[in-house]
Amino acid sequence: MKIAVLPGDGIGTEIVAEAVNVLNALGLKFEMEHALVGGAAFDAHGHPLPESTLKLAMASDAVLFGAVGDWKYDKLDRPLRPEQAILGLRKHMGLFANFRPAICYEQLVGASSLKPELISGLDILIIRELTGDIYFGQPRGRRTAVDGHFPGTEEAFDTMRYSKPEIERIAHVAFQAARKRNKKVTSVDKANVLETFQFWKDVVTEVHAQYPDVELQHMYVDNAAMQLVKAPKAFDVVVTGNMFGDILSDEASMLTGSIGMLPSASLNAKGQGLYEPSHGSAPDIAGKGVANPLATILSAAMMLRFSLNQPDAADRIEAAVQKVLAQGLRTPDIYSEGTTKVGTAEMGAAVVKALA
Ligand code: NAD
Ligand code: IPM
Ligand code: MN
Repeated sequence: MKIAVLPGDGIGTEIVAEAVNVLNALGLKFEMEHALVGGAAFDAHGHPLPESTLKLAMASDAVLFGAVGDWKYDKLDRPLRPEQAILGLRKHMGLFANFRPAICYEQLVGASSLKPELISGLDILIIRELTGDIYFGQPRGRRTAVDGHFPGTEEAFDTMRYSKPEIERIAHVAFQAARKRNKKVTSVDKANVLETFQFWKDVVTEVHAQYPDVELQHMYVDNAAMQLVKAPKAFDVVVTGNMFGDILSDEASMLTGSIGMLPSASLNAKGQGLYEPSHGSAPDIAGKGVANPLATILSAAMMLRFSLNQPDAADRIEAAVQKVLAQGLRTPDIYSEGTTKVGTAEMGAAVVKALA
């Protein structure tokens, strides 16, 4: 089992170190190879995704990824910015299916900014299409406007687009995932305004004909953003495009108590996967030893389940995380009165101990 370990920037290095300790404590044989990515790779090699890092990722059974980005790189040309590393990995590895499960552990019901009864028992799965949409659509750029409200002035543009096969394959992923859960899919779109998302809705509806046992609901993205905080438990599987999925998954993270709790798996058609927390490099708390490593540790559990065929080890990690939460240990992001505040390393060590 070969794992490419790409910690990246900011809290990425801190949280990935804890996930690696947890993996090493399982008593399984892994070949783990570390490489630079993001701003760290730019500083060392002049590129956020060096050829050697991409090769390593492509040749591995799975990638464990931390986070990339820092404000200090914001002035670089776009192809050199740290974020291009994760976008490049997703594109080159064909990681089109992004699973972001928002599960509220009972112990954290009080940590969320929402009322306990809204989130107690919450278990929803956001499936975000990850290699299409306005993120990758061409053309994009800047130019002098020839029409519009202000012809002759500078303007910028991006292209939102989805092909039929791109929508079909993510719809299949969503319906199949729902079959193993509560058999309900909410497809989130903006079909009332955007042609791309009317097409999305039409194609998802077409694919649904093959899954009569699964309920399909369509919802506009603005309403979905509202419903997610009004009645989140009404959702089971949410499937949506790249950009809406980015935004809604950050919103959903607060249903679990903190963005530091939301893991993710990004899969391609070959079963390879990249596993990363849904959050970023958190420059505001980087280097302080206070970041929550649980989203990354839970991402490692998803890696064991989805890419490495070790479901028992995945269960063990998830049980250990719950045990640590039951012990009352909390990083600052999930702290509430009556619990014990710990740092990143203490939290990781507690999970390792709980595995035993
Ligand atoms: P962010 O997710 O890094 O941070 C948002 C807020 O959540 C911050 O207040 C941060 O302190 C907090 N937070 C995030 N993770 C946490 C954790 N594990 N424990 C405790 N608190 C946590 O988003 P941002 O501030 O908008 O972006 C920062 C940088 O990260 C940017 O450069 C952005 O592009 C990048 N980013 C990268 C990824 C990725 O690598 N996949 C994802 C999102 C953002
Ligand atoms: C995420 C991040 C990335 C995205 C950025 C860093 C490119 O926000 O993984 O959610 O927008 O997909
Ligand atoms: Mn995001």
